Amino acid sequence: AQPQILAGKQLVITAGPTQEAIDPVRYLSNHSSGKMGFALAQAATALGAQVTLVSGPTRLTTPVGVKRIDVTSAAEMLEAVQAALPGCDIFVGCAAVADYRPAQAASAKMKKSGATLTLELTPNPDILATVAAQPNAPFCIGFAAETHDVVSYATGKLERKKLNMIAANDVSDPALGFNTDDNAMTLIWRDAQNEIQQTELPRASKLELAFAIFARAAQLLP
Ligand code: C5P
Repeated sequence: AQPQILAGKQLVITAGPTQEAIDPVRYLSNHSSGKMGFALAQAATALGAQVTLVSGPTRLTTPVGVKRIDVTSAAEMLEAVQAALPGCDIFVGCAAVADYRPAQAASAKMKKSGATLTLELTPNPDILATVAAQPNAPFCIGFAAETHDVVSYATGKLERKKLNMIAANDVSDPALGFNTDDNAMTLIWRDAQNEIQQTELPRASKLELAFAIFARAAQLLP
């Protein structure tokens, strides 16, 4: 049994990709499997937390004890997150939210022609930054996947999105990251004196990394 370091805490975790409709049969998305977010939900539950997992489309089964809310688009994910936020102590943004969506989803299947086709895209809301900007925001944890200058970009995101902690990983290594069972990351956070601190979490299963992230977060909670 795990130490109950998150007993009495409510968590909201986003996971997986979002799908942004082009027309009724097509969408824009990415290769996120949802594995890291589901591992976080499983770990937090084992540590005693009550977890709401807001998930984009994945092939994963819901960890036992987790309340799962399925969504498709970024707009739906933001709405489900807002609804789940009251009483939330820790928010973890682990979803690979599509940065853009088609400006208008066609209501009928688009027909092909020989001509080029231009899709107009409009930016999606940043769910994590929206949560972190709210008055009385929960403790906010983000993820950053980078191919280079991992720590400096991730620290920039921590500052810009006003996060408490960010887990950064190098996705240039094909053995780690998207759709793999293992990962390795640098954990970066703001301490009680508002100084930026960091530690390496060496290669381990996503579940082990989730436990390591919450062990650190639990020490920083108010
Ligand atoms: O800026 P970038 O997309 O790299 O930031 C990644 C972090 O922000 C992740 O924690 C991700 O879940 C979150 N995010 C979000 N909504 C977006 C884009 C990113 O919550 N629209």
